[in-house]
Amino acid sequence: MDAPSPRLLSVSARIGADLKAQIADGTYPPGSALPSTRALAAELGVSRTTVTAAYDQLIAEGYLETRPGSRTRVAAGLRPEPAPAASPVPPQRLSAFGQRILAMPASREPAKPAIDFRTGDLSGDDFPALAWRRALNAVLMRRPARLGYGDPRGLPELRTALQAYLWRARGLRCGLDQIIVVNGSQQGIDLCARLLVDPGDRVVMEEPGYGAARRAFAAAGAAIVPVRVDAEGLRTGDLASAGHARLAYVTPSHQFPLGGVLPVARRQALLAWAEACGATIVEDDYDGEYRFDMKPVEALLSLDRAGRVIYVGTVSKTLSPQLRLGYLVVPQALGEAFAEAKRLADRQAPGLEQAALARLLTEGGYERHLRQARRRNGERRAALLAALAESFGARVRVEGAAAGLHLVAWFEGVPAEREAAMASAARAAGIGIYPVGPLYHGADTRPDRAGLVLGFASSAPDTIRTGIRRLAAALKAA
Ligand SMILES: Cc1ncc(COP(=O)(O)O)c(C=O)c1O
Repeated sequence: MDAPSPRLLSVSARIGADLKAQIADGTYPPGSALPSTRALAAELGVSRTTVTAAYDQLIAEGYLETRPGSRTRVAAGLRPEPAPAASPVPPQRLSAFGQRILAMPASREPAKPAIDFRTGDLSGDDFPALAWRRALNAVLMRRPARLGYGDPRGLPELRTALQAYLWRARGLRCGLDQIIVVNGSQQGIDLCARLLVDPGDRVVMEEPGYGAARRAFAAAGAAIVPVRVDAEGLRTGDLASAGHARLAYVTPSHQFPLGGVLPVARRQALLAWAEACGATIVEDDYDGEYRFDMKPVEALLSLDRAGRVIYVGTVSKTLSPQLRLGYLVVPQALGEAFAEAKRLADRQAPGLEQAALARLLTEGGYERHLRQARRRNGERRAALLAALAESFGARVRVEGAAAGLHLVAWFEGVPAEREAAMASAARAAGIGIYPVGPLYHGADTRPDRAGLVLGFASSAPDTIRTGIRRLAAALKAA
């Protein structure tokens, strides 16, 4: 669609040209309704006749359709034109931060296959829609006299509810001012990176470890220091040779991705190391609510006497990753800095959702839902373990299945280099599997056999069984 210069067009022709461009770029997809002529005329500050003339012209050209008594729509059969490819080099000079982000390997999500073992996704069926709607309704009925900005740390009622929940569920005691409500763990980790890491600072990360955290620290300019994990989590004996660092990011309750639970002796060693080198420990307790074959473990924070640990929690595994709600428990001395950083980032987390979560927590709905979610995910986990045993037998060794919503399947005798080919063969069969390789920072630290991180929280047990059967067939044929 070659548009003549806008200056040469009448107002109605200009409106027509803009609408055509928006149809072409998919702003108005085929079959979608356009604004009424009255509404658009009022928005654009032109007469209704002018807008009607533009619509009539597009109807005559076949872009729009109209039926008596119904809104004017984009013709159902039209196909949006693909937008011209954006230039890979932005015309503006990026900051050092921007350049670091662009230099990282792309983390764009590929299209979701029919059966997906991606970690982090939950089943839509598990969301407690009724309880959430009741909580939201109750909050909406309160009708505050004035709508304004609140405390950047979050709604006091939610922080109070979290304070009580953290004690009930995780044995944690903390002051209200230590709790900061954030938009998911990711924002919490990002705030830690902003407030505690300068370019060039050394940051200890578990190897293998959580890519999204590693990227946040690397984006802040950190020098990543990988410290290997074993079946019990971070090998704290290796910290001495890793040297001093500004910060360490750890998942002590359930190491991501290998599933180890850090024993108390290693916890003490980690805390002692942090104290000795003045480092902060970021404890990501992302799925502490899910325990299957093991007793609940205490949070690292509860052993911290020196104020070195920042605890990160989230509802992404218990309610939904779409809510973008999480919380930090920060040392008293850092409360003010975190509150101000949160205010600068986005003023505060969304108030309605915070209030609804507070209600769910105080009225018992959250823990009721958790009991159900635990049972359902226990069934999914059992289905996955049985399906892996049935399809692969001793050729697959499972690691880290005692807790959380994912496990790691190691393929004995299959070289690590095969992981990418395995993922493409599976994808061709409509199965999404995710190799463990990209979760290692260093090429020389990873085991030489192929491994997959299999998330099981988003599919029904039957779908999981079908998925593993199809995976086995696809890998055999590949
Ligand atoms: C290690 C780890 N931390 C945190 C999260 C959750 O992040 P968020 O709270 O930002 O959704 C995930 C999600 O999969 C995770 O795997």
